[in-house]
Amino acid sequence: MNFSKTILNWYALNGRELPWRQTTNPYAIWLSEVIMQQTRIAQGTAYWERFMKRWPNVYALAEATEDEVLREWQGLGYYSRARNLRKAAQQIVEKGYFPQTFNELIEIKGVGEYTASAILSMSFATPIAVVDGNVYRVLSRYFGIETPIDSTQGKKVFKTMAQEYLAKENPAAYNQGIMDFGAIQCTPTSPNCKICPLIETCFAANNNKVAELPIKSKKIKQRERHFSFIYIRCNGKTVIRRRGAGDIWQGLWELPTTELVSNVIEKATLIKKNVKHILTHQIIFADFYLLETDVSPTLPTDFIWIKENEIEHYALPRLIDLLVKSL
Ligand code: ADE
Ligand code: SF4
Repeated sequence: MNFSKTILNWYALNGRELPWRQTTNPYAIWLSEVIMQQTRIAQGTAYWERFMKRWPNVYALAEATEDEVLREWQGLGYYSRARNLRKAAQQIVEKGYFPQTFNELIEIKGVGEYTASAILSMSFATPIAVVDGNVYRVLSRYFGIETPIDSTQGKKVFKTMAQEYLAKENPAAYNQGIMDFGAIQCTPTSPNCKICPLIETCFAANNNKVAELPIKSKKIKQRERHFSFIYIRCNGKTVIRRRGAGDIWQGLWELPTTELVSNVIEKATLIKKNVKHILTHQIIFADFYLLETDVSPTLPTDFIWIKENEIEHYALPRLIDLLVKSL
């Protein structure tokens, strides 16, 4: 059996039963793909279900406020995805129909080549291959491709290969099959070669290269940053502000920093030190202080005072949310 047939066969037996696999509704599939980027399936499924219930179609989502979408997104990270999702819904409503071609789809906010290919293959049975981390890994190992996956050349090579081996008669099953295969069978650190249906013809398994493939040329360098946040408790109220554009956590709400209330910081208690939070390009270390006071400190005018128990209505970075919940 050739590679593509084996993937289809494997998928029929081992594919995950996911709710959006029961539909060809492009809205449902688009939503699932945006949520599942950078998210574990188990975690993402619950979010998809909540989104579908609250905003069952693109018209409903287009009517939502940014705050509502961010709040529902809370905990998934990469909040630009949530902001783009809502803007994209508005774009689609304005257009008057759900785009059905690659060129129209990549015009939609937050929709790149991967998402466009996923929607086309899964909703409209268009024969177009997806390329994600799973696809890179499976192809590079099975065919023994040593071109770095993060190089311009690599992107071209793998895209061409993915398209060549796509099972054109069932692109939805093949695309989801190869991704599931990568997620379940040919995993990054412990692929289950012993029971793999591809082992006899797999380059990596037969040349002792499983651990080496796929090859990456550059390590992403992560910038370290240090934040000191202060939770102020003043007559049952606390104070937060919305983070602006151009940095992490855009549109989410944050606590004042110790620098802003330096005049009263000596009265604050350090409650957590060096809480580490890893983002794609940054490692955040945060110190948290608690200041309990009857005298409300002066803060810049973009801060708003809210009742302490209202803070749960605001979308906070995960790091701050966990701290606030522990208070
Ligand atoms: N990861 C993201 N979307 C997926 C899908 N539709 N099938 C398998 N893995 C995925
Ligand atoms: Fe992946 Fe191992 Fe199967 Fe090759 S034999 S495709 S490395 S799981």
